[in-house]
Amino acid sequence: MPKKLAAGNWKMNGLRQALDEVRALHDACPDARCDIVICPPATLIGPMVEVSNDMQIEVGGQDCHANTSGAHTGDISAPMLADSGASYVILGHSERRASYGETDAQVRAKTTSAWNADLTAIVCIGETLEQWEAGQTLDVVGRQLQGSTPDGATSETLVIAYEPVWAIGTGKTPTLEEIGAVHGFIRDALVKRFGEEGQAMRIVYGGSMNPKNASDIAGIPNVDGGLVGGASLKASDFCHIVKALD
Ligand code: G3P
Repeated sequence: MPKKLAAGNWKMNGLRQALDEVRALHDACPDARCDIVICPPATLIGPMVEVSNDMQIEVGGQDCHANTSGAHTGDISAPMLADSGASYVILGHSERRASYGETDAQVRAKTTSAWNADLTAIVCIGETLEQWEAGQTLDVVGRQLQGSTPDGATSETLVIAYEPVWAIGTGKTPTLEEIGAVHGFIRDALVKRFGEEGQAMRIVYGGSMNPKNASDIAGIPNVDGGLVGGASLKASDFCHIVKALD
C-alpha cells in the first residue's frame, strides 16, 4: 500500500502571515505518518521552505512552465521551483485547464520538465459537470491520464489527483462508491501502463474534501490521499484531514 499523501493547494491565497498556519499544522500534527505537502502561491514557496525546514512538511508549486528559462513573462520554471526548495508541483489543475486552455500535451511537457528538475508531479485529471452528467467520466479521465503523463513514470515521480471539476469548491462530492470506481479505473490504467510502479503510484482525491468526509474518503480502496483546497488553508481543518489519512 502506498504511503498516503495529504496535499494542500492554497491556490491564490496567502500572504506572509499565513505561514503561521504551517507552524500551527506542525504543532497540531507533529507525528503524522502520511506525507504532507503544501503548495502555496509562488511568492510564499521560499519563505514556507524556511519555516518548514525542520518539520515533516514539504512544499510544492502550483504550476511550472515546460521550458527551463527564457522569454516567458510571468511564468516560473521547474528548476526555479526546485531552487526555491520545492519538491512537488501540481500540474494540469482544472482551473488552469479552464482559465489558460492548458492541453494534455502541455501538461505532459510540464511533467517532463518537473521530472528533469527532480520534482514530483501531481497531475490533475477530472471531468466537468456536463461530462459527469453525460456518463463520460471514465472516457475523459482515461484520455487525460494517457495524454498528460509521459512514459517512464514511477511512484516517486508521479502522483495522480482525481478531481471532478464539479466537486471543487462546491461542497458536493461523488458518492464513496463512485470515487472508488474512478480510482479503481485509474489504478488499472496505471498498472497496465507502468506495471509494478503503477501499483505503487499514489492516486489522491480532490474536490470538497473536508474534516467531516476525510475519513470516509480515506477508507476507499485506491485512495492514497487527498489534494485539498479550501480546507487546507486552516491548520485545524487540514490537521483533521492529515489524521484521517494517517
Ligand atoms: O486542488 C484542490 C482542489 O481543486 C479542491 O479544492 O476547495 O474543493 O478542496 P476544494
